[in-house]
Amino acid sequence: MTARLEGRTIIVTGAAQGIGAGIARGMATEGAALVVADLNEEKAAATAASIRGAGGRAVHVRTDVTDRAQVRAAIEVAVAEFGRLDVMFNNAGFNVPQQFLDITEDNWDAVMSVNAKGVLIGMQEAAKQFIAQGGPGKIVNTASIAGREGYPSFAPYSASKFAVIALTQSGARALAQHHITVNAFSPGVVDTPLWEQLDKDLVEIGDAAEVGDAFKDFASGTLIGRAATPQDIVPTAVFLAAPDSDYVTGQVMAIDGGMVLV
Ligand SMILES: NC(=O)c1ccc[n+]([C@@H]2O[C@H](COP(=O)([O-])OP(=O)(O)OC[C@H]3O[C@@H](n4cnc5c(N)ncnc54)[C@H](O)[C@@H]3O)[C@@H](O)[C@H]2O)c1
Repeated sequence: MTARLEGRTIIVTGAAQGIGAGIARGMATEGAALVVADLNEEKAAATAASIRGAGGRAVHVRTDVTDRAQVRAAIEVAVAEFGRLDVMFNNAGFNVPQQFLDITEDNWDAVMSVNAKGVLIGMQEAAKQFIAQGGPGKIVNTASIAGREGYPSFAPYSASKFAVIALTQSGARALAQHHITVNAFSPGVVDTPLWEQLDKDLVEIGDAAEVGDAFKDFASGTLIGRAATPQDIVPTAVFLAAPDSDYVTGQVMAIDGGMVLV
């Protein structure tokens, strides 16, 4: 069987660790050339090196997704290294929980800036590159179960993920004329460093008694009966980056073990 992503150049933002690193590794084994774009340069370099060590093709770029010039620079690296850009995964995101009545404007601005504005910038800059290349192209955004339901201590995060779904739908409609598809995937509870921090933060704000409780509580709400690992996301990421998904656009694919049924 031929590799499903042979010859494709893919940028994944937030790919230094967690879901982004997992899907970058998985897509590299399907023949894609990866640009590991992340704020954390050291970890991004390590992830790219591990892909190369496994026989794949990857480079890293220190990228803050809230800074348009840096996103553009990451795209320029993709083109310089691998000739073109085929797929853009706007995956970087974070969450700092706060009790609803304690939410600060700073918290709102920080979360919305990375999770929503960062996705908008990534979509726009990737689309401009696809159009300059003469098309086609694929954009894949990381949504969340929190983009389908509002959680009490995650209001800015939920708002940002609802925004990701809105951007996915708007982008699909706006960019179809350029042969660009725009989709999202929506994870539930994935065992990544994000949850290590979230677990601690939820104890701090009084939502959980002990570190680990919140993760267990959330994961027990899945029909499958366990939390996901980044590996569980890989097949959907490969599908959304491959020609197999050419007739799919404007969609949000849930990979949440059956947490949210829509
Ligand atoms: N882990 C989960 O349970 C879960 C569930 C649903 C959705 N998600 C979403 O999946 C995505 C990845 O989450 P994860 O669990 O792998 O998180 P993670 O914290 O393990 O990794 C996120 C990565 O994003 C990077 N990042 C943060 N801000 C950035 C910025 N401004 N520019 C560039 N990179 C930046 C971080 O350095 C980090 O490497 C996020 O969008 C998150 O909201 C995660």
